[in-house]
Order: sequence, then C-alpha cells, then structure tokens
Amino acid sequence: MSPEVIHPELRARLLSIARRKIVDHPFIVQPDAEGLIPAARLFSGTGQRILELGAGSGELCLDWMKKHPEDSYVAFEIKWDRIRRILRLLERNNVQNVRIVPVNFSWFLESMLPGKSFDAIIAYFPDPWPKRRHWKHRLVQPDFPEQVIALLRRGGQVHLATDYAPYARKMLRVFRRSDFDSQMPAPGFIRSNPFQVRTRFEELTSERKPHFMAWTWRGE
Ligand SMILES: C[S@@+](CC[C@H](N)C(=O)[O-])C[C@H]1O[C@@H](n2cnc3c(N)ncnc32)[C@H](O)[C@@H]1O
Repeated sequence: MSPEVIHPELRARLLSIARRKIVDHPFIVQPDAEGLIPAARLFSGTGQRILELGAGSGELCLDWMKKHPEDSYVAFEIKWDRIRRILRLLERNNVQNVRIVPVNFSWFLESMLPGKSFDAIIAYFPDPWPKRRHWKHRLVQPDFPEQVIALLRRGGQVHLATDYAPYARKMLRVFRRSDFDSQMPAPGFIRSNPFQVRTRFEELTSERKPHFMAWTWRGE
C-alpha cells in the first residue's frame, strides 16, 4: 500500500498498531510517533545493510550474519511467535547488528525507513495469495520495483524466491519491465537456494520446485 493513498485516520490507526509493544528487546525497533525509524536505530554494523521482508524463523538472517557479522540486518516479521523464535536463535548464536521490525511491510514501508539505505532486499517465499481476489495482497505488484528503488543504494540487489509458479512468472514479468537486471541465467531464475541455507518454509515446500531470483538495480 502506497503511503499517499492511506487516509490520515487509517494511517494513525495503523501506526498505533505498529507501535504496540509486545516484546521488549534491544533488537526490536518500532516506528516513532511520526511513523519513522531513523537510520541510527537500524544500523549498528559497519558493513552492508540488508533488509529482509518476512523473515519467518530467521534462518536466512542467521546464515547471513554468521558469514558477514559486520553487516546490519533489518528483518520485518509480523508474527510475534516467529519473532520470539528469531530472537532465541540469534541469542543462542551470539549474533549482533540485527534489528527486527514487527510491522506489516505493506503499510508504510518506504515512508518508515530511511531512503537509499540498503544494499540488498530479500523476500523469500512471500505469501503467494493464489486466489485472484487476493492478488492485491501480494508483495510483488507492478510498482514493487519503484518501491524498492526508493530504499536501495546504487547497485542494490533484490533477492526473491517462490515455489508457486504463477507468482514466479508474475515476478519475472514485473522485474523484466523495470530498471533491474537479472543476475540469474535465462530465463531469470535457478532452482537451488543461492544462499545455500534451507529455510523452514523451504523445507515445508520441498514437494514443489522453488524459483530463486536476484536482480540488480541499474539506476543511479
Ligand atoms: C511463507 S513465510 C516465509 C518465511 C521465510 N522467508 C522463509 O523463507 O522461511 C512468509 C513470512 O512472512 C511473514 N509476513 C507475511 N506477510 C507479512 C507482512 N505483510 N508484513 C510482515 N511480515 C509478513 C509471515 O509471518 C511469514 O513468517
């Protein structure tokens, strides 16, 4: 949902939900009263800045931070049971420089986060919403590339995965028309996870063949 189409009253209601404190933990960050999260509250590492949309149980986050502990990793996840699981996983592995944003990423993603800040955005297995009347809830819409361009630094990347073939075709169509170049061989996806870590969700969907994509923004 683009911020400009949200009615002020609805925005205020959504913001009050986004600011509810369910778990108090130094890794949890929520928007301030204006609906902003300043860079200083998000980035504590000195390396690259990664944004994950829908972190699930946190396997990708853990894998990334074990390989690149100097990076800053910001993970959106809406379900508190999953957030608690991610926090336990990170604590057990003594991982730093992660922030978890317990907010619906469809509400005001671009207006909440600092612009032109991220080197990579990862959305692995976003909900596919297979019924036509639910397509409006999908993360990847025709304007998704523009939304993420607002958040990316120059040369930034978008990593996508889905096991639902019609959604994969949609992602390919949307990104082929955008200012992004595919980093995967034709036709634009591979079948094995380039991060070489299996997420809990990928385990659950192992019957179907996943599509993994990576796109680099060619703009300034
Ligand atoms: C299908 S799971 C995939 C999880 C993880 N990426 C993986 O590969 O295992 C999708 C995740 O995104 C979260 N999610 C879905 N819609 C969301 C939204 N609008 N805002 C924040 N999180 C969301 C769900 O709670 C769930 O954990």
